[in-house]
Amino acid sequence: MRPQKFKTRITELFGIRHPILCGGFMWLSDANYVAAGVNAGCMSFMTAKTFADVGRWREELAKCGELTGGKPYGVNLYASLRSEDSEMLKGHLEAALEAGVRHFETAGAPPTVLLPRLREASAVVVHKVAAVRHAISAAAKLDIDAITIVGMECGGHPGLHMVGTMVQGLVAAERIHLPVVIGGGIGHGRQIVAALGFGAEGVIIGTRFLVAEEIWSHDAVKQRVVEAGETDSALVLASQRNTYRVIDNESTRAVAALEAAGETDFEKYRPYVQGNQQKMAYETGDWNSGMLAMGQAAVFADKIEPMESIVDGLVDQASAGLERLNAVASAVG
Ligand SMILES: Cc1cc2nc3c(=O)[nH]c(=O)nc-3n(C[C@H](O)[C@H](O)[C@H](O)COP(=O)(O)O)c2cc1C
Repeated sequence: MRPQKFKTRITELFGIRHPILCGGFMWLSDANYVAAGVNAGCMSFMTAKTFADVGRWREELAKCGELTGGKPYGVNLYASLRSEDSEMLKGHLEAALEAGVRHFETAGAPPTVLLPRLREASAVVVHKVAAVRHAISAAAKLDIDAITIVGMECGGHPGLHMVGTMVQGLVAAERIHLPVVIGGGIGHGRQIVAALGFGAEGVIIGTRFLVAEEIWSHDAVKQRVVEAGETDSALVLASQRNTYRVIDNESTRAVAALEAAGETDFEKYRPYVQGNQQKMAYETGDWNSGMLAMGQAAVFADKIEPMESIVDGLVDQASAGLERLNAVASAVG
């Protein structure tokens, strides 16, 4: 593992060596992936929704505690506006607190119903949004410790406004008093230096880690990410106000055709977008089937390798980026 290179409000808040948060992945963020990120010096989040059964969730929490050898790891709580979802999340939150977890990423709807309990437990909370407007409002209204903002390059849900990380990351870092983490399209260490230059305190990286050896998905899916360039993702479901950046494949093209035809009946979309399709594709390696989140940063993923070597590579690239900045600055004489 590389030595610490940067000290920011995020490295201090999370007690981590590198200013990197590992993106939580539905179906894929299990104990193996999360522990590998933590052991590589980052903060990483197990996705509560992946383990719907609370008994199974407790087992995975215990496994993560063992694999990290007592180092802090995090949990992602993706809230929707459906009341049955909030009830499930409350139960999963309680189990995570019992397991000793004190670092949480919230996303989706504002985590209003979860915050009192999180605060009572003295947990660290970073809330993730996709628009500056939502970031400013969350920083003003929610009792949270940090804000993550992702631009339209990101894998998963980029929101509706389609503003890139280069613009909204800087705007958020300048306007928000809380520590800001920026992401969306970040998969190279030189971008980390740029983000810190913007005034961000850290970055979130998702897509670049999809090729980690510790992720359980079939190698054929990882290989697709290795081969993908910056133009191999597709944006779908904007017509349903649920824009999703995913691998461009047969299913996304079918969905795009429905959208182009003006189809508004969700039932027509369901066969392509239901969550168990994703799980099956990860199991079988049939990456042409289902909506598989992947962002433009796939271009930076060039082989399947352990988390630690991905993170070490990012830190080396960041060091090179910093040297470059020092060289051009000192060249002025
Ligand atoms: C396969 C995949 C699954 C994801 N699942 C979730 C999720 O369940 N909850 C969540 O908050 N974000 C999820 N995300 C978003 C990531 O946590 C992270 O914000 C995003 O990947 C960062 O942008 P990048 O992909 O450009 O690095 C997912 C992203 C990917 C690629």
